[in-house]
Amino acid sequence: MPFTTLLVDLADGIARITVNRPDKLNALNATVIRELGEAVERVEHEADIRGVIVTGAGAKAFVAGADIAEIAGQGPIDGKGRALEGQAVFRRLERCGKPVVAAVNGFALGGGCELAMACHLRVASEQAKFGQPEVKLGIGPGYGGTVRLPRLVGKARALELLLTGRMIDAAEAYRIGLVNQVVPADRVIAESEALLRGILENGPLAVQACLEAVDAGFDMSLDEALLLEANYFGLLSGTADMKEGTAAFLEKRKAVFRGV
Ligand code: COA
Repeated sequence: MPFTTLLVDLADGIARITVNRPDKLNALNATVIRELGEAVERVEHEADIRGVIVTGAGAKAFVAGADIAEIAGQGPIDGKGRALEGQAVFRRLERCGKPVVAAVNGFALGGGCELAMACHLRVASEQAKFGQPEVKLGIGPGYGGTVRLPRLVGKARALELLLTGRMIDAAEAYRIGLVNQVVPADRVIAESEALLRGILENGPLAVQACLEAVDAGFDMSLDEALLLEANYFGLLSGTADMKEGTAAFLEKRKAVFRGV
């Protein structure tokens, strides 16, 4: 089934997922969330997909939040259900095992900021704007904003953004560590691809192990996280890619990784 609210294309191992509701600034309605879940399932299962770029259609918005028209009609039970469903889709994206870059081409507000934060890395247009404005609507974040924002930028800065609902520009997002790079608007996709291509030149099992170790280790005790790291280190030592990578260094040639 083709998607109705997403554009998905695959070129050279990189899947580009574009939220495609530009007339509503790519707001996340129930269909977008469901289709994002289906797209992530493809990412998990298709070996041809080695990395992912998530972006928004049009020049104005990455994603301007959850769809306020839908939220306006919800009650406590379906509201909780909406949050759980979106959280599950974003968590699945975060744990898909392949590197995911958010190419933030414009407004990344509410659910849009939360979607960008569920990606592993963020490249922002100079024109991008970030924020968690939910409190202005009398509601709180539902797709991980109170959870991932403090982990990315620290509790004080996260609380400031969450409590004021104020928007910040790309330069400030960079300064507080919310985004990895800020680039001219017309370079967002190209620079996201370049970042991803650099990652894809590395050993894919090693890249996957870094993703897993950071994801799982972040909330462990220091000792548990160090043990997890040592286990991955040992596990990777059994791969052909590790033999190839170390041999290539010693032989002063470029490694050819096969993901085994
Ligand atoms: N949900 C539903 N529709 C949204 C939306 C959202 N989160 N964000 C924007 N839209 C719609 C607008 O209603 C408008 O639709 P219309 O043309 O049918 O009236 C269209 O997208 C364009 O938005 P508009 O507000 O006219 O653009 P703007 O340039 O004046 O303002 C924003 C841009 C991003 C500042 C403004 O749209 C906004 O504040 N959006 C909501 C952000 C938010 O609170 N997100 C968190 C939601 S929980």
